[in-house]
Amino acid sequence: MKLLYLEEIDSTNKYAKENITQISDSTIVYTYNQTAGRGRLNRKWSYMGKDNIYASIVLKPSDDIRPVYSNLTQLLCLILCQTFEEYGVIPKIKWPNDIQIKGKKISGILAEAVMGEGKLKGIVLGFGINLNTTEDILKEIDQPATSLNIETGKTIDKTEFLQKLTNKFCLLYNRFIEDGFLLIREDYIRRAGFLNKEVSVKVLERIVSGIAKDITEEGALKLVDKNNNEHVLLIGDIL
Ligand code: BTN
Repeated sequence: MKLLYLEEIDSTNKYAKENITQISDSTIVYTYNQTAGRGRLNRKWSYMGKDNIYASIVLKPSDDIRPVYSNLTQLLCLILCQTFEEYGVIPKIKWPNDIQIKGKKISGILAEAVMGEGKLKGIVLGFGINLNTTEDILKEIDQPATSLNIETGKTIDKTEFLQKLTNKFCLLYNRFIEDGFLLIREDYIRRAGFLNKEVSVKVLERIVSGIAKDITEEGALKLVDKNNNEHVLLIGDIL
């Protein structure tokens, strides 16, 4: 994986999308000074200081869209969890794009596809990781959040963390594109914090509530509502 370090940038996702043609496949664009980070659902991603990671992986697997590409967020969720686990913590996935520790958010993913002339120009997998923050900085965020230094009681070396993460990503990525979500399903489910719990999922403008029962072979969330109707959701956000 190639590294592209930016001294300061408004958003690594925005930069990656705007420069998609020049950036080669499997490049990680990263900064320690992100001034206007963006999250899902038009939310912002707060700047937590220079000892945290703000990065976007640029992928160009093919110029047509294949179903497995929508599972790349799940692959990155798993890899983030496995990297956190190396530090002795127990991360959980909040479907589809957050990582939590003890119910507090430590990382979020924003996946975006760039299209042009009817073709897929690339996929940008952006992620922010709270590595080294303080309780005071975290208090500013609109939801319960934590960081790896707080959970471990140790300062985290950001270069080492990024290296571990990119190594794991490279090891799995090609096989994942070939084999699909099934390759990681068991490892993913083991870390899914939401299964067998009551959840409400926002799907576009609709809210679906019920018990999260399973993750299908395609990586969709299977939910059973109070009238025993089954819903299979490929997109959405757990509220
Ligand atoms: C979310 O939790 O809603 C997703 C947050 C994604 C934040 C990262 S930080 C690096 C990259 N650049 C951005 O502007 N956003 C992503």
